[in-house]
Amino acid sequence: MRILVTRRWPEAVEKALAYKFDVTFNSDDKPLSKNDLAAAMGEFDVLCPTVSDIIDAGVIASGERVRLIANYGVGFDHIDIAAAKAKGIAVSNTPGVLTDATADLALTLMLMATRRAGEGERELRAGRWTGWGPTHMVGSALKDKVLGCVGFGRIGQATAARAHHGFGMKVGYYARREMPQAIEVDGTFYPDLEQLLAVSDVVSLHIPGGPETANLIDAAALAAMKRGSYLINTARGGVLDHEALAEALRSGQLAGAGLDVYPAEPQVPECLLGLENVVLLPHLGSANAETREAMGMRALANVEAFAAGKSLPDPVA
Ligand code: DGY
Repeated sequence: MRILVTRRWPEAVEKALAYKFDVTFNSDDKPLSKNDLAAAMGEFDVLCPTVSDIIDAGVIASGERVRLIANYGVGFDHIDIAAAKAKGIAVSNTPGVLTDATADLALTLMLMATRRAGEGERELRAGRWTGWGPTHMVGSALKDKVLGCVGFGRIGQATAARAHHGFGMKVGYYARREMPQAIEVDGTFYPDLEQLLAVSDVVSLHIPGGPETANLIDAAALAAMKRGSYLINTARGGVLDHEALAEALRSGQLAGAGLDVYPAEPQVPECLLGLENVVLLPHLGSANAETREAMGMRALANVEAFAAGKSLPDPVA
């Protein structure tokens, strides 16, 4: 069984995988081109891609050999699942193991945006800081404010738990259905997105990417948010209209935003780069050593199950 791993993985995982299987690693660690991915479909039995590999219907149609796509990551909107299914190719992901890291990063962005941390750092490094002052770079407190989670799966719930227990925020959430026993957070369920947006001081996005959620947070949704509120996105860039966000940040409709993901990474929407009140991180949600290793081990578990003819631990619907 030949396996292609499209990017470098943590050393321990690469070793574990190579010990058991015939693996080709992309030693350059640069995202593979569409042509490379297409060629791989005919040369390997298992493909282990990441979010930086666009595996669309064209790529999937290009070869007959791949039987499993074991994604390194929980989100899979970069893979055309319907096309894979139609060809009988199994797809797996790595749920659960990156929940804490991503929720931590959502809180990082929340604190950075509301306390103007990026702006303050830029001021200091540019030599523009003139000293402490009662009105200098004053932000906004989180305690007693309402966090509105759009999407309330594992990461949304872990973010809410941190915001509530750690920072005294109240929690509301918008999801397809009410989650009566979600977590140890007393969150209020809003079946209507606009209603949640209207009562939230900080809105945090935790929905999957893909056609169903594309531009869910558009100009109308941003206008429905409380004036002077904040928006955090650790989900996928495609769920947000960035031109509309830039306008809302310029006009003061939003006081600030914190983003970790963008529609066409590694490009960052130009309209945001000159704005002081937005924190921009380079897709770091799962980026701590423990999590990245756990993600690899989870992908490996799926490859092992596949090789043994067992059902996958993490099949993608
Ligand atoms: C994920 O796992 O979905 C992260 O965004 C990295 O791909």
